[in-house]
Amino acid sequence: MATASEIAAVGVIGAGQMGSGIAQLAAAAGCAVLLLDADPAALSRAVASISASLRRLAAKGQLSQAACEDSIKRIRCVSTVQDLRDADLVIEAIVENEDVKKKLFVELDKITKSSAILASNTSSISITRLASATKRPSQVIGMRFFNPPPIMKLIEIIRGADTSDEVFAAVKSFSERLGKSVICSQDYPGFIVNRILMPMINEAFWALYTGVATKEDIDTGMKLGTNHPMGPLQLADFIGLDVCLSVLRVLHSGLGDNKYSPCPLLVQYVDAGRLGKKRGLGVYSYGQKSSSVKP
Ligand code: NAI
Repeated sequence: MATASEIAAVGVIGAGQMGSGIAQLAAAAGCAVLLLDADPAALSRAVASISASLRRLAAKGQLSQAACEDSIKRIRCVSTVQDLRDADLVIEAIVENEDVKKKLFVELDKITKSSAILASNTSSISITRLASATKRPSQVIGMRFFNPPPIMKLIEIIRGADTSDEVFAAVKSFSERLGKSVICSQDYPGFIVNRILMPMINEAFWALYTGVATKEDIDTGMKLGTNHPMGPLQLADFIGLDVCLSVLRVLHSGLGDNKYSPCPLLVQYVDAGRLGKKRGLGVYSYGQKSSSVKP
């Protein structure tokens, strides 16, 4: 198994909001990055946004022009899981759905080299269950970045029931190589951050749904009243309302307490395709026509 400094090739699966930022970080840290997505359009968008983001850093003097262009060149878009066979570390950032992720881990287990570490960026799904889909559960780990990965300073590492000390140490040092601080969570629903954050977001939806206040006043209340940089409803839009709903469902079923039951308004927004900033419309509108769903 590769140590952190030996991790030279990183596979990133899912080139959406999270995967594109993770690919950027790994490339900027000197790794060869293989970026895979089921949707070719997502790959094109990711390459454009990574290039723009790195060039902005270069323009601000935070990265040399040469380092910027070298990082962009280190990212190769690929179209099949087989293309990841030489990766030392694979970080999965696909849709938050346990069955789909498990299927991917089964495939990864078959095609990657036996020493490869398989990591998931999941927001809430059990690492132990993903690991049990493979024949290398000691090499499966949660590596949860925050949105947007290049800016946010934290990685939450989740140890599955069988994750080895060596794999934990390698992923911890690799996270530090990416310039991040690390926290470690045991494998329980929502881990640390979402266990605490998602009930707050859900409560903000209940407050909106039951007419306690307007969305603006709920967000301003939490920003100015509790010194949060962003209100919970706006944060939900940035995370993605579909991701918030999936995490709440995992908390609800995993912890068995009705306090985690998703607010009907959140469910309705997701049903209506109002997924947040990534779709131009969520609780707030980001330059698109608003739908008929009324808060
Ligand atoms: P996204 O919807 O922006 O991107 C997901 C990408 O995965 C899409 O481009 C989609 O085409 C691709 N995809 C879906 N199934 C695939 C498959 N089987 N094979 C290859 N590509 C596939 O989602 P986002 O927000 O980037 O989230 C991805 C993961 O990261 C989820 O597990 C989510 O829970 C987690 N996460 C999200 C955070 C957030 O703030 N959005 C924060 C931390 C973790």
